[in-house]
Amino acid sequence: MMRTREGQIGNSHSHFREGKMRVKQTIVISIFVLSLALSIKVRPEETPVRIGFLLDTLKLERWQRDSKLVQARAEELGAKITVKAAEGDDDLQLQQANQMLDAGVNVLIVVAHDSEKAGAIVQAAQRKGVPVISYDRLIKNSPVSLYISFDNLQVGRLQASMVLAAAPTGRFFLLEGPPADNNALQFERGQKVGLQEAVDAASITIFAEEWCHQWNHTAAYEATVAALKKSNGKIAAILAANDELAGGAIQALKERKLAGTVAVSGQDADLPGVVRIIRGTQTMTVYKPLGPLAKRAVDAAVALAHGTRPTTSESIPNGAYTVPAVLLQPIAVDQKNLGATVISDGFHPAEEIKKALAPGEWEKFASRKR
Ligand code: GAL
Repeated sequence: MMRTREGQIGNSHSHFREGKMRVKQTIVISIFVLSLALSIKVRPEETPVRIGFLLDTLKLERWQRDSKLVQARAEELGAKITVKAAEGDDDLQLQQANQMLDAGVNVLIVVAHDSEKAGAIVQAAQRKGVPVISYDRLIKNSPVSLYISFDNLQVGRLQASMVLAAAPTGRFFLLEGPPADNNALQFERGQKVGLQEAVDAASITIFAEEWCHQWNHTAAYEATVAALKKSNGKIAAILAANDELAGGAIQALKERKLAGTVAVSGQDADLPGVVRIIRGTQTMTVYKPLGPLAKRAVDAAVALAHGTRPTTSESIPNGAYTVPAVLLQPIAVDQKNLGATVISDGFHPAEEIKKALAPGEWEKFASRKR
């Protein structure tokens, strides 16, 4: 009995020891598996890429859309993104870049306020080995890793040709954006290329040209008031570089009861621009599908963060460097193809446009034969 007991006791002791060993083994194995899992998780290619997105402004409809699209694509790819807008302040934009770099972003996507001054952002990034994507606007004289935009010369050409078709003769007023934005220079060049033949044939004259120092309505309004005064209201067309400027110009035309009689260009397919096209006070806009732009930029950002160069078909000189570039195609839009472009793409769904119009205006537009 004792033996049995002892035996039992002896047995239970050895069971106890074995049990203890099994627990130990299980713990060791679990720790090993866990650390393996952790080490897999922290392998560099699986840590989320951290993107810093610096915008010039978030005040304009266009950039609000870019901001949303870029963030959505980053989330889709599992990247972390921080977004900051400098509202036209170059020092602030550099400060925001430095904060992002200090916080450890792996790549910067930059919409430069000033194409030259933004070079300081590229230098700061370079010191930390962080690649920079020049988004929509070219950063000059700096080794950016990629420039991704639309064909901005083509934007100007499209504005010129559609406005010329509506106003083949007379006096043209060129209303440009800020020269610190490289795109504004490109739009103007493209417009002039597009107008050249008509100028040479003396069917039109460029009687005035104004550079607004900000992409804003008020600057455009004031410049147009002055141009109308100078020409005594005799203007055939206004080549406004974007919809924001077109809005200011058309307000000045309205005050002289000239809205709808002067051909006006725009760009961005902003909702107010689309409304003016439907009402006939703005001739056209240049629609730039921003979804593909944002997607290509974020995909490239993730690739660059992993040390892979994104494939590009073009390269563009930015002064001191030749930069790999992706240039997407802009689309000229007027009353005729609004439905087949901006609306059918869902850039502005018909319902949204309808809400922005007075009762009956949409029905009238939709029933018109084009
Ligand atoms: C330009 C851009 C245009 C327009 C403008 C004002 O650089 O290409 O689409 O939005 O800035 O923000």
